[in-house]
Amino acid sequence: MRELELTITQNIKIAENIYRMDFSLTEGVGAIQCGQFLNLSLNRPDLLLKRPFGICSYDKDGRSITICYQLAGKGTQEMSTMQAGDKLMATLPLGNGFKLCDSYKKVALIGGGVGIFPLLSVPLNYPDKEYYSFLGYRSKSFVCMKKEFEAFCCSRIATDDGSLGQKGNAVELFLSNYDSIKPDVILACGPTVMLKALKKGLKENNINTPAFVSLEERMGCGVGACLVCVCQLEKREGVAANARVCKDGPVFNILEVEL
Ligand SMILES: Cc1cc2nc3c(=O)[nH]c(=O)nc-3n(C[C@H](O)[C@H](O)[C@H](O)COP(=O)(O)OP(=O)(O)OC[C@H]3O[C@@H](n4cnc5c(N)ncnc54)[C@H](O)[C@@H]3O)c2cc1C
Ligand code: FES
Repeated sequence: MRELELTITQNIKIAENIYRMDFSLTEGVGAIQCGQFLNLSLNRPDLLLKRPFGICSYDKDGRSITICYQLAGKGTQEMSTMQAGDKLMATLPLGNGFKLCDSYKKVALIGGGVGIFPLLSVPLNYPDKEYYSFLGYRSKSFVCMKKEFEAFCCSRIATDDGSLGQKGNAVELFLSNYDSIKPDVILACGPTVMLKALKKGLKENNINTPAFVSLEERMGCGVGACLVCVCQLEKREGVAANARVCKDGPVFNILEVEL
């Protein structure tokens, strides 16, 4: 993990309220694990808290990095006004990402909303797997990164209003295709309500496939010190426990985390 200056090389709108920001780094950060994130400082005294964003793609030595962001509040609004050449400080790479063992050949990626973006980094670490993606968007105007996913996997889309792909959400889309794919592992990222629906859906359909989820908890420090991002783990032998999403996660085994 390093605190480094990032130079914006491109900041473009790719869908309704969604932008892609590319950075170059003067010093490489070294190896990045898919599913890790960075914590971005916004250079404004009224926006002191850093903002976390999943790393979408990166080159091998960590000298160029891409994130995608959706307008949410003041910080992301400010980001949308930035231009190539602007510089920002960031701490990266942070957290524990997705780790795939050799026996996982077929990988299902389930992404909803901004959770879609970090999943794009998975084949960078693991290029030799068979990928199936199930991506959920609010409607057609929010659809982005479609071609990028299609480049490495068999990709299906759902929209809440049915304006593109199947009507419904990414979890419903995945469950309706499960039997024809039977993946060895499931990786999911999205809002808590989506991950909760996934956990319930797997249980109700007796699907025991290993599943790992990346949580999007609100964050403070991003490095395990402030405890803003604490989540609840499933009780073990009746004993409750917490975990820090930034440091112990953001990726957890779905069976171990309470959703
Ligand atoms: C590990 C991690 C990875 C993330 N990756 C991405 C990404 O790749 N792309 C992306 O667009 N966003 C991502 N987010 C969410 C992103 O950090 C927030 O949307 C952003 O910080 C909002 O900043 P803001 O100043 O614009 O909004 P604020 O003014 O801080 O908040 C505006 C609204 O957004 C909500 N919000 C703020 N932070 C979060 C959060 N962490 N999770 C859910 N809701 C939040 C607030 O409750 C509020 O309703 C990620 C969050 C985490 C924890
Ligand atoms: S954000 Fe501070 S401990 Fe996780």
